[in-house]
Amino acid sequence: MTTAVSPSLDSQQGADLAGSVAGTELENGFLPAGPGLERYHSDWYGSATVVAPVLRPRDTEGVRAAINLCRTRGARIVTQGGMTGLVRACMPQPGEVVLSTERLLGIEIEPRQGTALVGAGVTLASLDAAAREHGLMFTVDMGSRGSATLGGIISTNAGGNRVLRYGMTRASVLGLEAVLADGTVLSNLSPLMKNNTGYDLKQLLVGAEGTLGVITRAMVQLVPVPNARRVSLVSAQTLDEVQELLTAARQGLGPMLSGFEVMWRDYVECALSLPSASAIPGFSFGELAVLLEVTGTSDEACEEALASTLGNHLVAHPEADAIIAQSEAQADALWTLRDLSGEAATVFAPFAGFDVSLPLSEMEGWVGDIRAKLAKAGFERTQFYGHLGDGNLHVVVGLGDLRRKEEAETILYDALAGRRGSVSAEHGIGLSKRQWLPMSRTPEELAVMRRLKAAFDPDGILNNNRLFNKE
Ligand code: LAC
Ligand code: ZN
Repeated sequence: MTTAVSPSLDSQQGADLAGSVAGTELENGFLPAGPGLERYHSDWYGSATVVAPVLRPRDTEGVRAAINLCRTRGARIVTQGGMTGLVRACMPQPGEVVLSTERLLGIEIEPRQGTALVGAGVTLASLDAAAREHGLMFTVDMGSRGSATLGGIISTNAGGNRVLRYGMTRASVLGLEAVLADGTVLSNLSPLMKNNTGYDLKQLLVGAEGTLGVITRAMVQLVPVPNARRVSLVSAQTLDEVQELLTAARQGLGPMLSGFEVMWRDYVECALSLPSASAIPGFSFGELAVLLEVTGTSDEACEEALASTLGNHLVAHPEADAIIAQSEAQADALWTLRDLSGEAATVFAPFAGFDVSLPLSEMEGWVGDIRAKLAKAGFERTQFYGHLGDGNLHVVVGLGDLRRKEEAETILYDALAGRRGSVSAEHGIGLSKRQWLPMSRTPEELAVMRRLKAAFDPDGILNNNRLFNKE
């Protein structure tokens, strides 16, 4: 969105860096700051204001060399994966060098153990495709699967479409390898499910947004691909009705319930208008639509369980519409409607995107409150949707003028206060949400976070000023 571009390092630092990689393995992966590096300097929200040189090490030793080099040259590092994060954490800042994980590849699957040893630069889609050759799959899935990388989703403890069945990314991380700011390689790539031997250091790095170390490899848990799935779409008029369906689905489907996504009319209309959307003939969308997925051991078991849950719901709400996809292609088309969220947001650019968590009992009040306040303030274009089964709602607000971002944020977050909500359910804090972090964490928690940052990275070399400012 911003076009003014300044060089990242002063020319002496840049020349030093270039000289230092000459003749080393890093030289192969060094891209001096200049034109042609757009993909390292732009994300979903637009381009960076700083053009930084890029280091693309090809293994853990290379990452160590890159960190040591930057530290001794007085440069800082911003680590990048697939650039699909939504909080601008990967945008280079003045004085930073981009460390791209794109060459940290490799997937080794142990089918009997049901695990995969994966390089940080592997995309979700590549891991999933490799796992499926063994009848397995990775637990985490989301619309950005073709670009999002394992290193990125682990660093942000990403959520996605299957949290209610398999948990967030952290639940599937068995072991990690990371390089710390002083060059220490912290490696525990254990495939063990149980390992109660002191502090769980890997879990500290999961969700740390790259502020404590650079993740290079991970040992992750895979799960068997379910034998069968059924995907349905159900219309509703009120959020209360949707929550009633959620309770019934949890009780009636148990662990077979693998997706429960909600979309309001404003989101649906925008998503259906996109060229990549498929029409859903014969379905009348209400104020809200629920995408409900069940997975299980057989087609019959899925169908029976789903028909019973939906049947009871339709008896109580005869005005509701419900369809069940009759083929895998139809099931994919229903998911596509939900997966188009990233594209749908850009229709409203410049926009502000939100991912709040709040207790189900507070949700209807919050949605009503902010809808009224946004309308009153003249924010006419909104998209509401989310992972209802996880208590996580997304809101996209068309700003008209980027300078109104904080005004929109204030409306949404003020209404969250007192409702026991979180300013980030899954996207993280990055650069975008730092000022709001204290709403969701106590001063004592923030003080301990700062102490951890200081212990891991006293000079603030890694993803500095993401999450919170170094003081
Ligand atoms: C989604 C992203 C925005 O759920 O988190 O579509
Ligand atoms: Zn989401």
